Amino acid sequence: MELPFTEPFKIKMVESINKSTIEEREQWIKDASFNLFNLKSEQVFIDFLTDSGTGAMSDRQWSAMMLGDESYAGASSYYNLKKAINEITGFSYFLPVHQGRAAENVLFSVLVKEGDLVPGNSHFDTTKGHIEFRKAEAVDCTADIASDTSAIHPFKGNVDLDKLENVLRSNVKEKISLIIVTITNNTVGGQPVSMENLKGVRKLADKYGVLFFIDSARFAENAWFIKTREEGYAEKTIKEIAGEMFSYADGMTMSSKKDAIVNIGGFIGFRDEELFHKASVYNIIYEGFLTYGGMSGRDMNALAQGLYEGTDPEYLRSRIGQIEYLGTRMKEYGIPVLEPFGGHAVFIDAGKFLPQIPMEEFPAQVLAVELYIEGGIRGAEIGTLMADRDPITRENRFPSREFVRLAVPRRVYTNSHMDYVAAVVKNVFDRKAGIKKGFRIKKEAPIMRHFTVELERL
Ligand code: F0G
Repeated sequence: MELPFTEPFKIKMVESINKSTIEEREQWIKDASFNLFNLKSEQVFIDFLTDSGTGAMSDRQWSAMMLGDESYAGASSYYNLKKAINEITGFSYFLPVHQGRAAENVLFSVLVKEGDLVPGNSHFDTTKGHIEFRKAEAVDCTADIASDTSAIHPFKGNVDLDKLENVLRSNVKEKISLIIVTITNNTVGGQPVSMENLKGVRKLADKYGVLFFIDSARFAENAWFIKTREEGYAEKTIKEIAGEMFSYADGMTMSSKKDAIVNIGGFIGFRDEELFHKASVYNIIYEGFLTYGGMSGRDMNALAQGLYEGTDPEYLRSRIGQIEYLGTRMKEYGIPVLEPFGGHAVFIDAGKFLPQIPMEEFPAQVLAVELYIEGGIRGAEIGTLMADRDPITRENRFPSREFVRLAVPRRVYTNSHMDYVAAVVKNVFDRKAGIKKGFRIKKEAPIMRHFTVELERL
């Protein structure tokens, strides 16, 4: 018999989590204006808000922290990180930053100006935020298959190369700041991008003379999907696959809080020395000196070690296996989930789960709140609230997808937690007909409103 996946680690330290009652949670979420970001972590039992910065570091990462060199300039930790980045991504130049959006801020300060276009595949919200903040436009060229939540396709995160070429053909190249491809594609459900697709983007970038960067937060999970789904890659190592993916790009932004399994940190990788020097100026202003850029020596050491652990094939097998385990339990209960399951999360199709709630009443937020009340699970709305308003017309943007994302932190929860979560979702599914009304916005910020929005029940 084929042996099941198991975690290639055992647990050395545990952290207690608090169970609470439905009545307590009803009060807490009301006090939080029905915004799950406003809850205290002790009011949450299973925290699937994000897989970002929430992973468990290993004993080796903790020991690397003890060896952190806190010199302002030229710390050994910086050189440890440089070596790891160079080995895994192939980029010779890099700038450390405190997290992914800082990488976007520094890079876009050089490349993005008012009126520009930044084509890509469903830019993450901070990426879009940094583009729109500069009065430029994030042009979504995601393949159409991504919006069909039940279509089975191995690489639903792909860029539609025709859509991309159309943008490149119809605009002068000076107007295209860069192409940015996100691997895996978080917004459409943690779906991977194929090697062939990355190669295709490179060809177009060359043909039209524009830069191509990879948003690499979950590059290792993407590499695992290429290894297991794309012809010709089964025998390659994750490092070889990662090296090839990055070989097609001019650079990368990285939120290390995901696949490098650290609680804070990020970096920008560059192939071109001149661009690196231009970005260095902004790094010093916004982040810190070039050899620490927003991270402590301890953080850089943990990140260097995390890059190796996050690309370990046995770790990735168990990581992706656990998401698949959770998705399969939910599917068995008849819950409408996005398929294939993503790399870091299971996405529940809230539009299908609660068809009686109109988009204007935020069905995915309604479902996320119900999951919290039912079992203390904190997920995230990826729907109309997060899609925000159009920066010019200020009208609500209605996305083609209305999801609740259950993002699983790395190396934190066991499969019995997954069983519990699936049972909670099933209980809400069984009583879904009783959920009749959604929410109305009481207060919202002008940009990225979902973080701080205040809601009331209709
Ligand atoms: N790019 C992608 C694809 C992301 O998923 C994120 C963060 C970022 C960039 C920004 O990185 O948080 O380190 O500043 N995603 C988290 C999430 C917040 O929950 O998906 P950051």
